Amino acid sequence: MGFMSSLKVLRLRFRYLVYILLANVSNLLGCVNAGAPPQIDIRDSPELVGRGDYLVNHVVGCVVCHSQRDWKYFSGPVKVDDSGGGGKIYDESNGFPGQLRAVNITPTALADWSDGEIAHAIVAGVDKNGEALFPVMPYPYFRSLCRDDVQAIVSYIRTLAPLPETKHARRLNFPLNIIVKTIPQKWESPECPDPYNELAYGQYLAEIAFCGSCHTPHSGGKADPSLFFSGGREFVVPGVVGKVRSSNLTPHETGLGQWSRARFIARFKAFEDPAVLSQALPAGSFNTEMPWHMYAGLSEADLGALYVFLTTLQPIDNRVETWNKP
Ligand code: HEC
Ligand code: HEC
Repeated sequence: MGFMSSLKVLRLRFRYLVYILLANVSNLLGCVNAGAPPQIDIRDSPELVGRGDYLVNHVVGCVVCHSQRDWKYFSGPVKVDDSGGGGKIYDESNGFPGQLRAVNITPTALADWSDGEIAHAIVAGVDKNGEALFPVMPYPYFRSLCRDDVQAIVSYIRTLAPLPETKHARRLNFPLNIIVKTIPQKWESPECPDPYNELAYGQYLAEIAFCGSCHTPHSGGKADPSLFFSGGREFVVPGVVGKVRSSNLTPHETGLGQWSRARFIARFKAFEDPAVLSQALPAGSFNTEMPWHMYAGLSEADLGALYVFLTTLQPIDNRVETWNKP
């Protein structure tokens, strides 16, 4: 390994070390504090599975992460016959101190998981054996999911086409293997927000879709709360030369300050026509981590609620160049 890349790994190690300072120290003694798996009673009612389908494929992104994305197309859509079959591998080659995979979550892989155990992974961040998951799986955001929505998601996940399971080695380097145990938390089963209260509902959607995770600069492995939604987090997107940066979504003139509700909704709906996304991109084109293909299916009501929530944020002055053509 070259000197520069060792330096980079060291810097990453240091970044994750900061978790120790933020962590509840008693948890470091070894116990994961996630409570028992919640009682979840899934059903095959079309309403429930339909709600789960909407959330999984347009809001919370389980399938986008847990499948191979096709970066030949704009925003890396998932191959239809690969839904939930296992996604990206995180390892030293992409700067991760260890090795993780967004594993297969189709019924083949989750056959011996109870509904409550699947729910527990989503909202508390532990696997079937109570072992802590690493928060690349965005359970710190999913803990805001309300019970009805968790029930809907698990009901839908159970209906995915079964895909063959591929084994993968999982490893977290020291000290991450210890720090990770401090991150799962017991789920408090929050109330579902009123969908007619746009602000509350928009805030809920932004939280469970973890928009803020991508649209906020990180330090110490965490989103910096003083810079919420101000953009500039950097991404390496397969096939793209240079970094892609997230946009400022705060209501400042360098963000969405001049945007009407109609413009915001249209920005997403522009990707709803399958023809727009089915053109392979020419080499050297811009591409993005933002899963537009998925969000294009958000309802206008939900996009409107997201817009209302974003307009209430603290305006932050941050002009972001999302990509510079080399
Ligand atoms: C941003 C990417 C991402 C999203 C979104 C995501 N996951 Fe994950 N998930 C992961 C990764 C990475 C792991 C592996 C974590 C580890 O091994 O510590 C994981 C682990 C899991 C596990 C544990 C599997 C096992 O065998 O231990 C389950 C179950 C799971 N995810 C289900 C879901 C569901 C359901 C959703 C949607 C509500 C979801 N995930 C959304 C990335 C993601
Ligand atoms: C996986 C990371 C990721 C997630 C999750 C994500 N975004 Fe983005 N978003 C980006 C990046 C990177 C860009 C800039 C590149 C582009 O335009 O696609 C962007 C661009 C945007 C833009 C375009 C702004 C402009 O000036 O044109 C809007 C609007 C937006 N995101 C809203 C959202 C909302 C709302 C959510 C949650 C529902 C969200 N994003 C979730 C990464 C993300």
